[in-house]
Amino acid sequence: MKEKGCDLWIRNVTCLVTVAGGPSGPIASPSWDDLGMIEGGALAAREGRIVAVGPSEEVEKRVELLPSATVLEGEGKLLLPGFVDPHTHFLFAGGREEEYALRVEGVDYLEIRRRGGGILRTVRDFRSAPDEVILEESRRRLDRIFSFGTTTIEGKSGYGLTTEQELRALRLMGELGSSHPIGVVPSFLGAHEIPQEYKGRKESYVDLVVEEMIPRVGDSARFCDVFCEEGVFSVEESRRILEQGKKHGLLPKLHAEEFVPIGGGELAAEVGAVSADHLLVVTEEGCAAIAESGTVAVLLPGTAIGLAGKHFADVDRFRRHGVPIALGTDCNPGSSYAESMAAMISLSCSLEGLTVPEGIVAATRNAAAAVALSDRIGTLEPGKAADCILLDAVHPASVPYRFATNLVEKVVKGGRMAWSSDQGFSRAGRNFA
Ligand code: NIG
Ligand code: FE
Repeated sequence: MKEKGCDLWIRNVTCLVTVAGGPSGPIASPSWDDLGMIEGGALAAREGRIVAVGPSEEVEKRVELLPSATVLEGEGKLLLPGFVDPHTHFLFAGGREEEYALRVEGVDYLEIRRRGGGILRTVRDFRSAPDEVILEESRRRLDRIFSFGTTTIEGKSGYGLTTEQELRALRLMGELGSSHPIGVVPSFLGAHEIPQEYKGRKESYVDLVVEEMIPRVGDSARFCDVFCEEGVFSVEESRRILEQGKKHGLLPKLHAEEFVPIGGGELAAEVGAVSADHLLVVTEEGCAAIAESGTVAVLLPGTAIGLAGKHFADVDRFRRHGVPIALGTDCNPGSSYAESMAAMISLSCSLEGLTVPEGIVAATRNAAAAVALSDRIGTLEPGKAADCILLDAVHPASVPYRFATNLVEKVVKGGRMAWSSDQGFSRAGRNFA
């Protein structure tokens, strides 16, 4: 039977990568077969959903196009699912350049925090910036991120740290999500740091997060996250916050085992976290627990640059335990001011030892699982959203190999041509909500 009324057709793609091989959901240690590569492939969509993917001649026989359909030529190009960035703090104002300069000279992140810089510096900037400034700076960031091929991004609150300011962050993210073509998945991160006003009274701040903030988050966030780290929020405090989040419909996520191993991996598994992120110092036991609970490990290799610390995750440990790996930019003004998922694939392949299929899967299919959206995005197959990117390349290895070039030429979001390298944002793309 013919698929009628198709409004998008991408044809004759030299290398179409569906990332849909094997059973659905996140995969540990993916191989080339899992990339589902098609030579001379095509993709057709209707009203934002993919209806057919396969060799061009087959797809052509099966689809009937609307006269107004968008037709994109894929000759000499690589087609990938849009990147999913499952861990960012993209909503902020200002920057922290001088802290980076200090780190390069050997002053570490936690020392800068002790000196009153770090997250609290951005909290001051966030609280004093008017909505328009935060929206304008963050929208420009989203524009760049989208042009690098990210079609869905997770974003955290956590620079407000009062009930009103945290709710403001979630509201502003909601505004950006409905006015920008990129898909925004908001997370509540009231437990990102202990605000100045609560210095020496951390328990009271945790009470505030648990008793006042979380009940008011409502449906303005999908996830609840905590910065679980020595000297920040302990395992016990993180557990209390994540359990309360669950009671209020927020799925758990965790910044775990970044600097000092305190049991964040085990906690992520215990609360059934959708993802555990950073994991630079995760233990063997923590890794085994994560594997057992089906939690996705989100690696954030941009912090090796931002922290100038040269620390990388132990990829072999995740492979041995069969933990699916995703990649994120961690885009934030402190530890990783990164906007490109392709750059994360490069860092992880060349410096952490991910294979190319592992890197591609980590930035698409597994990243979708890390934001609990496996059923909608992350692979190119019938029924999923038509979120895809056309790149000036013919092999997936080009993405990490050509490490400082934006190869993305076209970004399609929800079946609409939203951005192209020669014309920028299209009107239709801009209006996509
Ligand atoms: O994921 N580690 C905590 N949160 C961020 C850093 C945020 C900041 O420094 O502003 C992270 O690395
Ligand atoms: Fe983070």
